[in-house]
Amino acid sequence: MNREFYHEPVLKNEVTELLVTRTGGVYVDCTLGGGGHFRAVAEKLDSSATVIGIDRDQDAIAWNKSHMPAPGPSMIFELERFSQFDKVLQKHQINSVDGFLLDLGLSSFQIDNVERGFSYMQDSSLDMRMSVSDEATASDLLEETGEEELADLLSRYGEIKNPLRMAEAIKSCVPLRTSSDLRKCLSREYGPNLDVKIIARVFQSLRIAVNDELGELRRFLDKAISFLSKGGRLAVIAYHSLEDRMVKEFIREQEQSCICPPGLPVCRCSKSTMLKRVTKGAVKASQEEIGSNPRSRSARLRVAEKVGVAGE
Ligand SMILES: C[S@@+](CC[C@H](N)C(=O)[O-])C[C@H]1O[C@@H](n2cnc3c(N)ncnc32)[C@H](O)[C@@H]1O
Repeated sequence: MNREFYHEPVLKNEVTELLVTRTGGVYVDCTLGGGGHFRAVAEKLDSSATVIGIDRDQDAIAWNKSHMPAPGPSMIFELERFSQFDKVLQKHQINSVDGFLLDLGLSSFQIDNVERGFSYMQDSSLDMRMSVSDEATASDLLEETGEEELADLLSRYGEIKNPLRMAEAIKSCVPLRTSSDLRKCLSREYGPNLDVKIIARVFQSLRIAVNDELGELRRFLDKAISFLSKGGRLAVIAYHSLEDRMVKEFIREQEQSCICPPGLPVCRCSKSTMLKRVTKGAVKASQEEIGSNPRSRSARLRVAEKVGVAGE
């Protein structure tokens, strides 16, 4: 294994145990990354199964294509955003899926590769695109976004207090080309001892905005259920509360049957229960896993199973 590309899969055993229910099924790893979960899922499947790996990062697809062992299930790799997974299924004439996996966020390769610009600890270009073919970098976003919009995204994605003050400070410094330009700009406004946790939240909010991460998750969830076979499962690992909350609320909504206002004599919404929770709360990494892989500390895994078919 090329250590440079290696990503230690988080909650690997929990994911494979909870996700794979049919050894001859079709599974889609929507966030292929270093292929750790993909391999673990593939190892549980037989040769009649298909496992599809999707990533928006060209490096992830190229590396996995040239490093996957051949025997086992059929393996497909596609460069695509996971919100567009239906295009991949259509291309391969697959109508239904037995399991979707999303392990959100960044791979170790992306974080550790200074050129990709995700690091706030090292000096790097202010890039942060998961796909280098996307147009706008974080530096572009800071230039093109107005003060109020910037304040809004700092508040929503980074929970920054008094975001307008920060947005004004940042806008007074643009153009900002590198992570140290941004850090210096923040120090000018807040002094040199600005808490590193706040700096991390500023970088997180830019990364979420550059990659439209919440929009991607929303669009994926809205489509995923209709492609799941009955008994098929959806497993999502989230690393921050915004994503985890979206997944939790989505599963809760899909667990409900009728959503008509109370008191109506007959149901008018025709909604039926589509999912049932497989994990009661979120599954977290053990202390042992956190000790050996600190990136697992904030991981929250939620798994749900499709029980209904629309209109049933
Ligand atoms: C945490 S890593 C996945 C690691 C992987 N599970 C493993 O075991 O190696 C997340 C990966 O998802 C990809 N990704 C994030 N958002 C995406 C999206 N909307 N569409 C496609 N890929 C995405 C990133 O490029 C990154 O490679």
